[in-house]
Amino acid sequence: MKGSLLYEGKAKKVYHVTDQPERLILSYKNDATAFNGKKKDQFEGKGRLNNLITSRVFDYLKLHHIPSHFIEALNDTEQLVEKTTIIPLEVVVRNVAAGSITRRLGIEEKTTFTPPIVELFYKKDELDDPIINDVHAYHLTDVSEQELTRIKEMALTINEHLIELFKQAGLQLVDFKLEFGRLKDGTIVLADEISPDTCRLWDLESGQKLDKDVFREGIGDLIETYELILQRLEENTCAK
Ligand code: C5P
Repeated sequence: MKGSLLYEGKAKKVYHVTDQPERLILSYKNDATAFNGKKKDQFEGKGRLNNLITSRVFDYLKLHHIPSHFIEALNDTEQLVEKTTIIPLEVVVRNVAAGSITRRLGIEEKTTFTPPIVELFYKKDELDDPIINDVHAYHLTDVSEQELTRIKEMALTINEHLIELFKQAGLQLVDFKLEFGRLKDGTIVLADEISPDTCRLWDLESGQKLDKDVFREGIGDLIETYELILQRLEENTCAK
């Protein structure tokens, strides 16, 4: 079923599917990178954890009628998805201040944003993924004004669902990054992954950081942390 390699990214390999040209297989790697690839390491089991966490999150979003590329998990490290052309935008939603916004705008960590803030970044490694505005996005990508409005609405709706999902698992959703892609007919759907690599998650009671910041900041064991997230999702949430 798995065909030839189409593309290898920092966290995943993408394969063709034999006889199904409109589908792809995503294979999650054990590599961890931060600061646009400047910090790198390998963690046995990370690919499995991110595949299983992402699959559970996308199943939950499917239940809530969010259109996405996700079809199903195939095994521990691979998932079947609809083929999309990724729009080179990183759509970040922030409920609480952390990470780059604290440095960029001098906002104190833990400041709450009501309503949540949506930011756009241009997905371009050579430029270190710079922050951009809507008009930049029209120039740099093929999205129309209407489509960008819809993408931001979808991001905020996804935020509401994810806040609830992670709350059930005793986690505060601080911020996260989404990517969107176009199906063959041009329809825009949610794509890529949603995992502790792409979300900030803090323990609801202790405030402990339980996401990729443990690797970025060297403050904890990545595999133990991601195991805990998967275990809490499996034990406390109903995704299927
Ligand atoms: O670094 P920053 O604070 O802007 O990140 C905001 C959110 O987006 C974090 O949850 C981070 O993990 C995620 N992110 C990502 N991929 C990037 C940049 C940020 O998943 N390239």
